Amino acid sequence: MKNNSGKRIGIFGFGCVGQGLHDVLQDNTHLEVVKICVRDKEKLRTLPSNRFTYDPQELLQDETIDLFAELISDPEEAFFIVRQALKAGKIIVSANKKMVSENLPELVELQKQYGGTLLYEAAVCGSIPILRTLEAYYGNEQLQEVSGILNGSSNYILTKLDAEGLSYDDALQQAQELGFAEADPTLDVGGYDAMHKISLIAAHAFGALPAPSDILRAGIQHIAKRDVSLAQALGARIRLVASAKLDIKHKLLVQVLPTFVFPESELYYVEAEFNGVQLKAKYAGDQFLKGRGAGSHPTGSAVWADISAALAGYKYTYQKLDRAAVQLEEDAALKLYLRTSKPTLLPELAWLELTSFGVDAQAEQLVGTIKRKDLLQHLQALEAADAFVAEIPTYVTVEELVKASVPLLEEISGY
Ligand SMILES: NC(=O)c1ccc[n+]([C@@H]2O[C@H](COP(=O)([O-])OP(=O)(O)OC[C@H]3O[C@@H](n4cnc5c(N)ncnc54)[C@H](OP(=O)(O)O)[C@@H]3O)[C@@H](O)[C@H]2O)c1
Repeated sequence: MKNNSGKRIGIFGFGCVGQGLHDVLQDNTHLEVVKICVRDKEKLRTLPSNRFTYDPQELLQDETIDLFAELISDPEEAFFIVRQALKAGKIIVSANKKMVSENLPELVELQKQYGGTLLYEAAVCGSIPILRTLEAYYGNEQLQEVSGILNGSSNYILTKLDAEGLSYDDALQQAQELGFAEADPTLDVGGYDAMHKISLIAAHAFGALPAPSDILRAGIQHIAKRDVSLAQALGARIRLVASAKLDIKHKLLVQVLPTFVFPESELYYVEAEFNGVQLKAKYAGDQFLKGRGAGSHPTGSAVWADISAALAGYKYTYQKLDRAAVQLEEDAALKLYLRTSKPTLLPELAWLELTSFGVDAQAEQLVGTIKRKDLLQHLQALEAADAFVAEIPTYVTVEELVKASVPLLEEISGY
């Protein structure tokens, strides 16, 4: 193993991930932490005050620093820091999925132009080495699909709904108390966090750079007990699944949607705050990675792995990005489960077919087929109208849905 003795690192951020990295470095390497840049001068810290700076330039302009770790929670400032480091030809590792996914073309270009290195394994599924696997192992083999549970907070909530029958609000509160969800959970439960991660996966797995507006995205915030009970009656679980897959026309479908997952899928068994990613490769076949997608030490460990790799000369090669661009699929249809208390919106959508299979005073449950581009246009309006939508496999029939929902409706209406 390469000895990192004598190398000097500047760290930005001393929150959950920054402290995790600091612990890991104390235990495992001889890297010298020059200083840690933070924002709040009043905050109580676990290290002496002389270990901190509040001025990013004190680190960025220090010629004696060999590399940086960017672990702050402010994406704009993070981009500023990473850009300046790359323009100086330095090594920098980051955990910021939003910042990297929204600026990837420029970040790739800056590395080419100035010779610096940016690694960001920790930004996608914390401790699971997915980007390095895609880059180093599948850089040349054609992948057919990469899909997974990429957000621990929403998976924790969905697991509690399914396994313990908690309400959404109670499960969210529990996740917040245990530190698995932020005070403002929108990014997690709304599917935005998973959207940033799947866009990075799409870049490394398929060479695609989908804009957020091209990604079909819906969250779990409107899920109700009757959706969970319906899934259970069908023998399934609802999970927030992010996926990027090639269709038969070789076009790429990228989405983040609540999905009915059946026991045949590895994702069915990913519980609580865990993440899981499955790969389907043309020659290697199927693979599955599961692990802790967040948390101080698991994420700190991923940052450390990037630091060690970068110091040993490792860079992402973006092999697939450099080849012919993959086109995104818009015309493919998908089968959707929908529950809404405001069905007036539904006729505005261009359904290929739509069947109502459960109606009572509170809500209507429907199953339909719709083209991706038509759904994309209306997803925000559906979410704004409190509708819960989930992809359901095409093999689930209306008869099965009716059979599964009748006892539930009887229970709700108190027969
Ligand atoms: N938490 C996880 O498990 C996890 C997993 C994977 C990726 N990530 C990503 O890792 C990054 C850090 O997350 P976190 O959970 O560690 O956040 P956090 O606990 O909220 O800590 C954020 C840190 O960033 C510092 N900071 C914020 N704005 C700053 C600015 N403008 N200049 C300097 N420092 C600034 C804060 O300074 P103060 O201490 O002064 O407030 C704090 O130390 C985020 O991009 C997040 O998406 C987190």
